[in-house]
This record gives sequence, structure tokens and C-alpha cells, in this order.
Amino acid sequence: QVKSQNLSEILLPVQAEINTLDSRLINEISPSSRALCTILQEIFKAGGKRLRPALTFLFAKALQPSKPVSEPIYLISEISELIHTASLVHDDIIDNSFLRRGKPTANSKWDNAITVISGDFMFARAAVNLGKLGVNEITSLFAQVLEDLCDGEIRQVEKKFSTDLDWDYYYSKSHKKTGSLIQAACVAPAIYYQCDPAVIQSCLVFGKNLGLAFQIIDDILDFNSTTEVMGKPALCDLREGNITIPLLYALEDSRYSVELKQKIELLSNSLDISVLEEVSIMLKESSAIDKSFQKAQELINTAIEAINILPESLEKSSLLALVDFIISRDQ
Ligand code: FPP
Ligand code: MG
Ligand code: MG
Repeated sequence: QVKSQNLSEILLPVQAEINTLDSRLINEISPSSRALCTILQEIFKAGGKRLRPALTFLFAKALQPSKPVSEPIYLISEISELIHTASLVHDDIIDNSFLRRGKPTANSKWDNAITVISGDFMFARAAVNLGKLGVNEITSLFAQVLEDLCDGEIRQVEKKFSTDLDWDYYYSKSHKKTGSLIQAACVAPAIYYQCDPAVIQSCLVFGKNLGLAFQIIDDILDFNSTTEVMGKPALCDLREGNITIPLLYALEDSRYSVELKQKIELLSNSLDISVLEEVSIMLKESSAIDKSFQKAQELINTAIEAINILPESLEKSSLLALVDFIISRDQ
């Protein structure tokens, strides 16, 4: 019954908090430059699933059922959405991407100078919020996330079109690029509330596994979904030279590996849409997409198991439904 729920139904227990967060992001981040202010507003108005803040609110309420969501929890939610959005603003410049969340990206509307600075401003505001929060462990947590994002991104850039990647590389890069921030959004409330180490560890394991599963689904959608449904360009990873999990599985398969390596080599020299399409067909014929999906399901199962420790609540049910939504999402 969970799969038939849409995201807004799942997030109902924290919808009021998400609305407050949206209004804070859109109305309360006001640099003195009018231009920068407008850009930031437009970026936040362009939407997004607000997944990371939702995770923070859900964990906060699941851990402290009787406490209303307080300012520190809003600050944490804002920090994760600011870091996430900033990394996407920079990512769209790096990837030369013109469509995000179904709308034109910042770099397609404004020049690179102001676009880069708008991302920098969001990082800066996240740092200001960490200062306001004043919890050393949470500052360290998000500082590590920033380092991970840069490290994950550069490792991806360095390994473009490389066909001799191993699984350690894939999981470590994916954790740094995607998992680290999702994990932080999940574990920060437990750290803030000074929960038992076992509870903190459970939130961490949940976030880490959910983060990796999220990236795997993202990798699958790039081959399996469409630009219209996703609101960002399809078949983009391989076009950019990113060797994602379905490709890694196919490269392991002796029936496909030689041909696939040749095609990736061809694509590294020049972009040929028909070669891209051939790779996509090859992946669908092989079991690579199924295997990737199974891996995501395994990680999700570990995540679900990890939060057994939490008492039953509406918010815990939402966390479980959210996990299901993430694995069956099409955008
Ligand atoms: C999306 O990946 C991008 C990320 C998850 C992180 C990108 C990180 C950076 C640009 C570094 C951030 C910089 C600082 C200063 C912390 P994608 O391109 O695979 O996904 P997409 O399809 O959504 O574009
Ligand atoms: Mg990108
Ligand atoms: Mg990228």
C-alpha cells in the first residue's frame, strides 16, 4: 500500500515544517546585492523535493515525539538544503547542464560569475547557520560533508570514460558525492538531542544506506527514464563520461564487456548519439539494470532494519514510506 502513496502524502507529518523552511529559503536569505538576492530566490522557488530537510524533520520528530520542531532543527534543515542546492548550482556549471527540476538552470540564465557566487553564498550561509547552531559535532559533520562533496566530485571528473574502475571506487565516490549529505541530514537531529550512541549509529546507518541507494536509483534513471519525467536531461552520465553502476555491472559481464569498452572509448573521442543509444539498449538487454536495482534494494533493506530501534510513530512510518518512494521513484 506504501507504493501508491505520493511524496506529499508521505511527508504530511512534516509538511508544515517544510513550508516554513521553504519560506525561510525564499524570503530570508537576503544578500545586499539585489541581483544576487533575485537569483537565490529564483533558484529556491524552482522547487526540489526538499528530501534532506524532510529527513531531518522526520528524524527530529521520531526521536522527540513530544517536542515541537525548534530553531536548531530548522537551522540544520536549512544547512542541508543550502549545501545540496549550492552543489547542484556548481554541478550544473561543471556538467554544462541546462535543465534542472524541469526548469532552466541558473547557469543557463545568468553568467558563470554570478552563478558561481550564488552557490558560494549558499555555502557561506550554511556556515553562518552552523555558527549560530554552535554545536561542535554538527559543525564537524557538515564540514566533512563539504570536503566529501568536493572529493567525490573531483574523483568523478578524474575518472571520466575510465573502464577499469572497481567497486570500492564506485561506492566511495557515491558516498562522498551523495551519501554523505543524506547521512548528515539523518544523523544530525540525534547528535543534537544527544541520543544514545546506539540510536545515533542507527540514524547514521539508515542515512548512509539510503544515500547510496538514492545514487544507484539516480544512475538507473539516467538510462531508464526520460528528460520529461525527470526534469533533467536523460542519458547524461555516459555523455559526460561518468561510469555509473549499470555500466560497472555490464563491464563485468563477459558477453558485453569488450563491445562496451569499445563504445565507451568511441564516446570519449566524440559524442555520437547513436553510440549512446546502443549502450543504453545493451544495458537494458543485459541484467545490469536489474542487478543495480537489486543492490539498491539490499541497501534499502539495511536502512529499514537500522531504524527498528526507533519507537513506532507517524514519523517513523513516513521514513519507511519515504525509503520505498525513493526506490520506486521515477524522477
Ligand atoms: C550531482 O551529480 C552533483 C552532486 C551530488 C555534487 C556535486 C559537487 C560539487 C559540484 C562540489 C561542491 C562544491 C563545494 C564547494 C562543496 P550529477 O551531476 O551526477 O547529478 P545530476 O544528474 O543531478 O546533475
Ligand atoms: Mg550534473
Ligand atoms: Mg555532475
